[in-house]
Amino acid sequence: MRPAHRKDYAVIWQATLQTVWDDVPEDERTRLDRRKWESHFRKKIEPYIEGDRTEKWIAENPDRELLGYVIVGESGFLTPETHGFIYDIWVVPAHRGKGVGKFLVEWAVDWARRRGHRKIKLEVSEMNARARHVYESLGFHVERRYMGKSLE
Ligand SMILES: CC(C)(COP(=O)(O)OP(=O)(O)OC[C@H]1O[C@@H](n2cnc3c(N)ncnc32)[C@H](O)[C@@H]1OP(=O)(O)O)[C@@H](O)C(=O)NCCC(=O)NCCS
Repeated sequence: MRPAHRKDYAVIWQATLQTVWDDVPEDERTRLDRRKWESHFRKKIEPYIEGDRTEKWIAENPDRELLGYVIVGESGFLTPETHGFIYDIWVVPAHRGKGVGKFLVEWAVDWARRRGHRKIKLEVSEMNARARHVYESLGFHVERRYMGKSLE
């Protein structure tokens, strides 16, 4: 694992936007123009990608080929206690299914533990069965549900 360099940011931006786009509920996505949505969403997540609210870490193989990344930071909302937070994980499609995703999550758990956090949290779309499986297999469980109802 190594900290992300400036040259990694293009990959991080592209992958994060794709992951979030895929997570937009189907009924909302059909009403959106992808390019307009991207410029709207870029502004929202810029402080998390470009700023120092988060740390971006890259997983590489011994040939220094990028395998994936994890974006970690802190969060706290319901109580004064802050927790570690996984903002995003992503694995290069050709390297999926080989344990890189689980490695990144375990690494993030260690990252949070090293900082003295007593808990680590994340958000994942209900539709993202693969990511949910990765998190649940490593001991994460659902604490809250974010619900929606279409009015059409
Ligand atoms: C989610 C992601 C990071 C997982 O990375 P990965 O390297 O493929 O993960 P791993 O190889 O460590 O583990 C994949 C697990 O998912 C399981 N899996 C694969 N497809 C699945 C599916 N459709 N439903 C449920 N589980 C699935 C695999 O069997 C494996 O579990 P196992 O080891 O218990 O058999 C990767 O798919 C990715 O980058 N997706 C796009 C970005 C994304 O969705 N990020 C999460 C945002 S919250």
